[in-house]
Amino acid sequence: MPERDTAPATPQLGTTGVIVVAAGSGVRLGSQLPKALVQVAGRPLVGWAVARSAACPGVCDVVVVAPPTHLDETRSAYADVSVPGVTVHLVAGGSARCDSVAAGLAALPERVQVVLVHDAARGLTPTEQFVAVDSAVRSGHPAVVPGLPVVDTVKQVDVDGVVVATPDRASLRAIQTPQGFRRDVLVRAHARASSSARSVTDDAALVERLGLRVLVVPGHPLAHKITTVQDLHLVEAMVTASAHDTAVPSGAEEAHTHVG
Ligand code: CTP
Ligand code: MG
Repeated sequence: MPERDTAPATPQLGTTGVIVVAAGSGVRLGSQLPKALVQVAGRPLVGWAVARSAACPGVCDVVVVAPPTHLDETRSAYADVSVPGVTVHLVAGGSARCDSVAAGLAALPERVQVVLVHDAARGLTPTEQFVAVDSAVRSGHPAVVPGLPVVDTVKQVDVDGVVVATPDRASLRAIQTPQGFRRDVLVRAHARASSSARSVTDDAALVERLGLRVLVVPGHPLAHKITTVQDLHLVEAMVTASAHDTAVPSGAEEAHTHVG
């Protein structure tokens, strides 16, 4: 049973920084370009991710973590995003997602005390989801993740495919990003991650290993992760089906309209 985090709420946390991890190659998508540079609904995925995260009030820094081979192309992919008061930084990622997050974390300015870690692969995530996660961290939760109820029955199986358990579906959530953390907590979690934990694709799991509580807040269907071509078609269909989201992207203005 993890210990409860007894750290008191910190009302005076500094600014919020977003790490957009975009350094993966997208093997399962099968595109020639890195996945974050693939066009979805008229704009590269990483462009969507930067626009929608930069529109979250309180965000002053966005660090884009790009494939070392595609730094210039990545910069061009979000060049149309300009939000007053927000600086977008670019750094090269590592070979595992965890290394890319660590590179982004190291590039965040000192003033950042709340960190939102976001997958470029979930580029269409609405700005409201960033606001909800940021607010929950600022209200005193050291780690916050968005999640949706699981609609399928989930079974745990052994190596032979034989069912060993059927967890109660009502208690399950499919976790998305951005995942929000107090900066000191995320730094500690990454510092403690042993070499065997470098393959972890979920930062909250590293925080759980510290014995801290992780809060789940409601997620959003548009935060669906694009892994395969089918996901790409699904997300494009969702955007098209929603008049709210079909506005032609125009960087900050477009994204700000979602904040309300
Ligand atoms: N990511 C990263 N650095 C890595 C690996 C992944 O920044 N070394 C990022 C991806 O760019 C993506 C997010 O982590 O935004 C989630 O990873 P995933 O969906 O697995 O993307 P890819 O690793 O690119 O895809 P694949 O596993 O199919 O190659
Ligand atoms: Mg991957």
